[in-house]
Amino acid sequence: MTPGPAGRDELKQVDLDLFEPFEELIEIEILGHPLEVPENNCLLRALQYVAAESIAYGRFCWNDECGNCEVQCVSPETGEVTVVRACQERVYPGMKITGLSDDVLLDLD
Ligand code: FES
Repeated sequence: MTPGPAGRDELKQVDLDLFEPFEELIEIEILGHPLEVPENNCLLRALQYVAAESIAYGRFCWNDECGNCEVQCVSPETGEVTVVRACQERVYPGMKITGLSDDVLLDLD
């Protein structure tokens, strides 16, 4: 899969009922790759939009217990890199992720 919005075939595999209501996609950056993901969703859910099966079948508790969703995120306020849990962090335009746990499998090439 290439970075960016999911293609039509991929969207067929994404159950949009899983997502918080959204009206538009916002651009975030993962490991230097721009991705468009649904606004108003946690980062892990947003990643499911572009990597449906990888996230759906991943080892994720979705409720802040396992830590398998941890990513490194650049703080927009300080510029410092902090570790956040993707299941707890809401996406925002310009969100910049610089590191992923081994459980977050994305094909960014
Ligand atoms: S998915 Fe388990 S802590 Fe986020």
